[in-house]
Amino acid sequence: APAVAATVVDLRARIASWRAAGERVALVPTMGALHPGHLSLVEQASKAADRVVVSIFVNPTQFAPTEDLATYPRDLDGDLAKLATVRTDLVFAPTPQEMYPDGAGTVVTVGGPSAGLESDARPHFFAGVATVVSKLLIQVGPDVAVFGEKDFQQLAVIRRLVRDLHLPVEILSGATLREDDGLAMSSRNVYLSPEDRQRAPALHRALERAAARIAAGEDADAALEEARGEITAAGFVIDYVAHRDAATLGQPQDGRPARLLVAARIARVRLIDNVPVSPK
Ligand code: PAJ
Repeated sequence: APAVAATVVDLRARIASWRAAGERVALVPTMGALHPGHLSLVEQASKAADRVVVSIFVNPTQFAPTEDLATYPRDLDGDLAKLATVRTDLVFAPTPQEMYPDGAGTVVTVGGPSAGLESDARPHFFAGVATVVSKLLIQVGPDVAVFGEKDFQQLAVIRRLVRDLHLPVEILSGATLREDDGLAMSSRNVYLSPEDRQRAPALHRALERAAARIAAGEDADAALEEARGEITAAGFVIDYVAHRDAATLGQPQDGRPARLLVAARIARVRLIDNVPVSPK
């Protein structure tokens, strides 16, 4: 299993020895409960750098009091075993006390792409994400950091954060890994009842269908309405189904890449997904 650092001091000492040898360092931030989607980001990181650091930290500041912080799946030993199957040089697994020794007094808020979509349902989410990702990038000081397209708005927020704060790191993105029936892999899929798990692929199916229609020149609003109908018929309550500019997440612009994004709830489980509008 890979080495584990639990403190920033230990983390920095290990990274300093790699830096002294002139090695490039990659960071893959995660909240653990690792699945093949996470591992694909680790593999991408290992191709982009000499050393790979994976952080595992269930970040309390990105959970609202009503959300699943207490029950979020945690399995450090299982995660370490999975990481042993890919190239991981170091796991950074701090405690909340190590990450927030004096509480969360300093908060990073990002403008631009953080507006709307996820923020409408989870108003404090991106400040929590931007704060912890800023801390991780400062703690590790990686040359590259890898994030998944699964969390498409988060990826845009992090790109904007890095640009706005002039953080000296290159952000890479990894495609969404899916189950055979199209459901995007997620640590939260374990919350789905067997019946809801059967229904969940409707999200991706509806998005793909709508994206193909829009790419073929059909009316976008009509395509989105049809997708909403399919998703509702599968038993979901929709937070949003949106057609946005892929870079800014603002309104789609002619001739620029666009994205369809969805968030919807089934029972008490909230799922998100997204697809490109033009063929990949
Ligand atoms: P977490 O949900 O654990 O996801 C960690 C990384 O894995 C994110 O970049 C996410 O987009 C990516 N990921 C999740 N599911 C994926 C899939 N099916 N295919 C490919 N990549 C996938 O996102 C977070 O943690 C946190 O917000 C974090 C950035 C770590 C800050 O706390």
